Amino acid sequence: MDLVLDAFHPLPYNHFISNQAAKIIQNWYLCDSFLTTKLVKDNLFVNMANLKKEISIRRTFGIISHPDAGKTTLTEKLLLFGGAIQIAGAVKSNKIKKSATSDFMEIERQRGISVATSVMAFEYRDKKINILDTPGHQDFAEDTYRTLTAVDSVIVVIDVAKGVETQTEKLVKVCRMRNTPIIVFINKLDREGLDGFDLLDELEQKLGLTVTPLSWPIGMGQRFKGVYNNYEQQLNLFRAHGKQTEEETIAFTDLDNPELENHIGEAAAAELREETTMIREVYPEFDREAYLNGELSPVFFGSAINNFGVKELLDCFVEIAPTPLPRITEERQVNPDEDKFSGFVFKIHANMDPKHRDRIAFLRICSGTFERNTNYLHIRNNKKIKFSNPTAFMAAKKSVVDEAFPGDIIGLYDSGNFKIGDTLTEGEQLHFKGIPSFSPEQFRYVDNADPLKSKQLAKGLTQLMDEGVAQLFIKQETGRKIIGTVGALQFDVIQYRLKNEYGASCTYEPVNLHKACWIECDDPAKLKEFLTRRRRDIAKDKDGKLVFMAESSWTLKMAQENFPEVVFHFQSDF
Ligand code: G4P
Repeated sequence: MDLVLDAFHPLPYNHFISNQAAKIIQNWYLCDSFLTTKLVKDNLFVNMANLKKEISIRRTFGIISHPDAGKTTLTEKLLLFGGAIQIAGAVKSNKIKKSATSDFMEIERQRGISVATSVMAFEYRDKKINILDTPGHQDFAEDTYRTLTAVDSVIVVIDVAKGVETQTEKLVKVCRMRNTPIIVFINKLDREGLDGFDLLDELEQKLGLTVTPLSWPIGMGQRFKGVYNNYEQQLNLFRAHGKQTEEETIAFTDLDNPELENHIGEAAAAELREETTMIREVYPEFDREAYLNGELSPVFFGSAINNFGVKELLDCFVEIAPTPLPRITEERQVNPDEDKFSGFVFKIHANMDPKHRDRIAFLRICSGTFERNTNYLHIRNNKKIKFSNPTAFMAAKKSVVDEAFPGDIIGLYDSGNFKIGDTLTEGEQLHFKGIPSFSPEQFRYVDNADPLKSKQLAKGLTQLMDEGVAQLFIKQETGRKIIGTVGALQFDVIQYRLKNEYGASCTYEPVNLHKACWIECDDPAKLKEFLTRRRRDIAKDKDGKLVFMAESSWTLKMAQENFPEVVFHFQSDF
């Protein structure tokens, strides 16, 4: 008690008053300080309990696929179940059609759509679900990689006819680097496609996943009768055009029950029995722990357009998917239930209105409670900022929020303070890891086409790079700037946006480069020798990190052989 008293209310002048009076005052103070401590503790307790509850109901995930596999359709059906939208067709495809390479209006239109659909939140079975949209166009793959840092799990959509495609391979690789839990949805079962077992083989071989089917198709295309869901132990019978009814989901614990024939016919029943026996023998049983560790992926079959298999996917998802997970910083692991707020920016979106340079920074909340109009520390700038109108996204609607919790994504209006990867905290020096830049695939020299607008060009380029549109490298020998992108489309986007938003013009010149590798070396003398010998190929990235710009795979191989002490990284976050 004394300690509490000392800490909270040291008794003033008590040697001037009578013992009796002192006792009364002391009791009063003791009582008061006890109450204060209790109140603070109670408050903290209530806050912590509230925080824990909010965390426990959140599921933040992304849907990834190769373009056209059905990501948009599946997202829309999930939103329909969540009551976030009322009619099909409300979610616009966030796809840039191939013909759009030179269609800037299309690019602009898409930018508008992707702000609206960047995050779609809805409630389902008392859970708050945040779906993070990932651009389908492969030229924006880097954007998708970054979005994947902000999710806790993913659903991968595969087209039953096409199997595992290239873009899926790349995206799943990024998820596997972080052990992100993955659920697979094989879509378009209303069409003829690959055999179920062949598909599972592809998932294992091309994606490196260990899989366990939680539902199994009964025929496909014209013969598609439905799926047997062994997670719920029920038979879901298929009616085309989304005409399933509740009655067509039949509890079925024992497939040997002769009733099966009455529902799907003799041949299909025999086939289903044989195949499910094989599944039991070949594939591991579902184990939630293994799924949460990214070591086992449940697989579902369905048809998004027909709204078939989607509810079962969602029902299972809300039950097994992880609540907001801890995040790693350079300093330590941050757990969501810590009472202090922290979060990081994973995406920046320029506003549509070119007259206002405002942008929206998308922040993933990692711990504690984010509160409106509260000062938070912007770690990179070492500046306190508060936000008067942080935005939450419920389906396509935006609204100002007073508080947000781990797993939530909020939009912060920004006039140029943020860069991708920036951290906000209540004061602790933290730097969230895992928002890498990957080596671009395409490179071009960028030059100023209007000498009177060089400042505008410099500013425009810096801001577009902060947004993550592309990467900028500065050659150390010549000072020339090189833009690196994942696809050709970004070069057009950059030129167009520089002109429209910054009044600057640029031209490109081809440069023959194979890869950009971030370099590291513990031996300063060796590093110096390498930098001198290869000075023509050395550049710095936007953060001043040293990069080796390899002209070809052969040059890279030679550099690696000649300088074994130098480590060549293919991503910036090592
Ligand atoms: P994406 O976001 O992954 O790129 O794919 P999206 O949902 O846009 O779907 C790509 C095409 O596949 C669309 O047809 C969509 O209607 C169709 N699709 C999605 N799910 C299914 C399914 O379960 N079965 C069948 N048969 N088709 C499906 P589209 O002709 O390109 O566009 P639209 O005119 O239908 O919008």
